[in-house]
Amino acid sequence: MAVLEVRGVSKSFGSVQALENVSLDLRPGEVHAILGENGAGKSTLVGILAGFLVPDSGTVEFQGVEIRYGHPTEVREAGLRIVHQHFMLVPQFTIAENIALGNLRRWENPYQCAAVSEASDLAERLGWGLDLESRVDQLSVGSLQRVEILRALIGGGSVLVLDEPTAVLTAEEASELLAFVRARRDEGMTVVLVTHKLREVFDVADRATVLRQGRLVATFDLSCTEPDVLAEAMVGGPVPMASGTLRAAGEEIVRIEELIVESDRGSPAVRGIGLSLRSCEVLAIGGVDGNGQVELAEALVGIRRSSSGSIQVSGRSIAYIPQDRQTDGLVLEMSIAENILLGQSLREWTRFGILRMRQVLEWAQSLMRRFDVRAESAIVPAGALSGGNQQKVVVARNLHRVPDLLVAVNPTRGLDLRAEAAVRKAILECAAQGAAVLLLSTDHDEIEALGDRVMYMESGRLVDRLVGSTL
Ligand SMILES: Nc1ncnc2c1ncn2[C@@H]1O[C@H](COP(=O)(O)OP(=O)(O)OP(=O)(O)O)[C@@H](O)[C@H]1O
Ligand SMILES: [Mg+2]
Repeated sequence: MAVLEVRGVSKSFGSVQALENVSLDLRPGEVHAILGENGAGKSTLVGILAGFLVPDSGTVEFQGVEIRYGHPTEVREAGLRIVHQHFMLVPQFTIAENIALGNLRRWENPYQCAAVSEASDLAERLGWGLDLESRVDQLSVGSLQRVEILRALIGGGSVLVLDEPTAVLTAEEASELLAFVRARRDEGMTVVLVTHKLREVFDVADRATVLRQGRLVATFDLSCTEPDVLAEAMVGGPVPMASGTLRAAGEEIVRIEELIVESDRGSPAVRGIGLSLRSCEVLAIGGVDGNGQVELAEALVGIRRSSSGSIQVSGRSIAYIPQDRQTDGLVLEMSIAENILLGQSLREWTRFGILRMRQVLEWAQSLMRRFDVRAESAIVPAGALSGGNQQKVVVARNLHRVPDLLVAVNPTRGLDLRAEAAVRKAILECAAQGAAVLLLSTDHDEIEALGDRVMYMESGRLVDRLVGSTL
């Protein structure tokens, strides 16, 4: 018998049909991957399973009982645990307070409640060092992801749904998490894994369901399926790959000497870094998230003060793709067009001080076509886009013209194969046309594919290789 049965589910948002007549079964003790391009409907399906989103038609039965919509707590208590694509933590609370939230009896101290001690035991088992007293708004995205996962796992549960849990983890962190997923599966838990990484799918999943533009393509048994078949099912055709172009580095654009930068918590995050970066060059920096990468990027683009050392940038235009599209990259309530306009000089878009809205919209639509942002129009709020399409808006704003310096932190986070290849290609093209590129990424393949030079960041310093790492 299936643990979870989705029957003929459809869901639309305005004129966008996010899901159309989708059916699927989850078997007890299987890892079931959900695959599809950005905007295919994966997170919408997850939202429906969670009891957050109400389908227009169709039903979901969990252990033989139909889910009642509008009661996400009921779904959770029945044993269906969801980790959403975008973080749902309270930024001003500490890790312990976030974990305790909704799990605390009256008068209980959040630091001593059962949920928090269970979460910290689990973190230890997974080898995740977490400081329970850290405030969530000061954590790296990798740590945020771990807190979300811990929060979902406490108190048992028979089905775990993870919506792109490895998008911000390094290869090692991801493989730890996948080993954990496998162990839970062997204990009988059913796990749903939404991911764009086919390697992970073959590593851990038993079956995979592919969605394309809201429709079910098929469910595949992975013991007898080739990766190409899945990739083609997702995009509906062969998959393009990014390839490097041969370039000669030009003049020096960035020189950093003995740089020290503090984190939000006031401790040194960048501990003495020197580097030089030339035009037409991609310097790729890898390493585990939270080792000073974001502080380095922010100091370089001028939004964080350094405490000592020097940074010289000899270009005028700097483009910045930040690590977290939702808090630093976009204003979710504003339209796609307004988000693309952010940070541009408004002079060319105004006449007598009035924004020429029609031109702005046409321009935004043309960028949406170029960067393949899937939405009805440029006036849709950024918050209504799928995660990957939000990322494409941030990329479009930064790469529509070639900057002197591009600083990009995990620029392909959450993108599907085709969009990932397109963004990597756009970055290489920027470099080919003269940009100096500093790429900070937790994705080892990305570092190798794009970097003319590769280095790693560890405890705030640059190193040639990670100590004790198999990379
Ligand atoms: N709240 C909303 N309002 C309007 N449209 C929405 C909303 N949520 C999702 N959509 C639309 O529904 C479609 C499916 O989105 P969904 O988030 O399910 O995609 P996804 O497969 O998770 O993509 P990604 O890989 O980019 O995360 C998209 O076209 C998206 O723009
Ligand atoms: Mg999604």
